[in-house]
Amino acid sequence: MMLTRRKFAIGCGAFASSAIFDAPLGFTDPAPADTHLPIPMLIDAAKQGNAVHLKAMFGRHAFIKGKPTGTYGYSAPVLGPVMRVRRGDEVQVTVENALDTVTTVHWHGLLAPGYNDGGPQQLIQAGENWRPVLKINQPAATLWFHPHPHHDTARQIYMGLTGIMIIDDGSDARLDLPRTYGVDDLPIILQDRSIDSDGSIGYDNNDLNALDIAYGARGDTVVVNGAITPIAKVPAGLVRLRLLNAANAQNFDLRFKDQRTFHIIASDGGFLAAPVAVTQLMISPAERFEILVDFSDGKAIALETGPDKEMGEFGRVAPDGSADYVVVMQFEPTPTMSLVKQIPSRLVEPATAVAASAVRRRQFVLDSGLCASRPQASAHTDMPALIGINGKPFDLGRIDVETKLGTTEIWEITSIGMAHPFHVHGAMFHILSIEGSPPPAHLIGWKDTVLVEDKAVLLVDFNQPATRQHPFMYHCHILEHEDAGLMGQYVCT
Ligand code: C2O
Ligand code: CU
Repeated sequence: MMLTRRKFAIGCGAFASSAIFDAPLGFTDPAPADTHLPIPMLIDAAKQGNAVHLKAMFGRHAFIKGKPTGTYGYSAPVLGPVMRVRRGDEVQVTVENALDTVTTVHWHGLLAPGYNDGGPQQLIQAGENWRPVLKINQPAATLWFHPHPHHDTARQIYMGLTGIMIIDDGSDARLDLPRTYGVDDLPIILQDRSIDSDGSIGYDNNDLNALDIAYGARGDTVVVNGAITPIAKVPAGLVRLRLLNAANAQNFDLRFKDQRTFHIIASDGGFLAAPVAVTQLMISPAERFEILVDFSDGKAIALETGPDKEMGEFGRVAPDGSADYVVVMQFEPTPTMSLVKQIPSRLVEPATAVAASAVRRRQFVLDSGLCASRPQASAHTDMPALIGINGKPFDLGRIDVETKLGTTEIWEITSIGMAHPFHVHGAMFHILSIEGSPPPAHLIGWKDTVLVEDKAVLLVDFNQPATRQHPFMYHCHILEHEDAGLMGQYVCT
């Protein structure tokens, strides 16, 4: 069985019913390691004539020292490069599929036409290449790229296919933000894995049971850029972390061990108008946040995560029944290295959309078949009965929504059974309300993914075309939900 599980009881929704299932209980607090934070290779597209080659390939990677295991990566044994592209440039990408199976590459958060989006219809057969020309025309942001072949997305990402794309529009220099890659500007890819004692991570599509699908693949070990509790040596000053949750299903609830204040400067779609001071940050699958952390006191400090609250009250308890928080990674500031010391008071005033301009209102009900409308669900056999949106599982041959280019719409998203991180391709949105309230300050900017526990109302801005041959997807970013059909597709003409 692929996942580490322990027996526990879990209730559904408001705990109307409960049953005994096998499911992972929480993270194991790892022994302190001495691994340095791996820094993915930087591809600065402009410096190589805006031609980028990415090779989806087999690799071997040791999550546990001395115990390498089979993985996938983009031009790397596991994960992939950080691709930096400039606004206004045209980037000729060649994706080479050196795997033995079909894949796609989706540019998550990139505003590009449907034919360049890399969704499940844009298959790259084993041994073949795909050559999209990406016109970069959106504000500075941290995006990412990953496979999207229907029914195999979860496994391919779990095996390691994930890379970051940074869009640079000159704001970093203008605002004098930390921007020295690998020094005071660090990509932080958060994932969780179940790693066997022989070092292997396995994911078998044929071995998933109803619970793996209902809860998504969850491991008991947090990995950062492919390493367990790594140490980052950082300047004793301001450091920018580009956080990406690339887990299949897990939400991370981040804080520093001393609960220091840090500043959120950007979300999925780019900069916020001003930094938002917080001591805690929840990041759900596929979300990105950029944060500034002040290490000028020179003290070594751990970044921690709490258990996933979305797993119900039992998610709050660590396996040994004690520690609530586990270490994600360590930071060790070095006094001589400080580069930037000042947090700007204002960032970038984002272009906004107005709710009054919306031309339509649509409802989307996300059902992972966990418990909703099946209060008697108590045995594995009668769940999941339905996984889909508005009562329909995904169908590659069906267009669910037709939108008009250059318009905005209000999308009301309702989650049934559990919280779903809802993502829209080819568009950014503003959160008008979340769980009945206006969004907190750090969720006010442009987003492409939002965790919907109960209900969210979004104002979606459609400015990229997508035809019936190459429609855009919207879906839950718990990858097992997506693969099982919690996805729909829309055109924009
Ligand atoms: Cu991160 Cu449909 O994608
Ligand atoms: Cu979901």
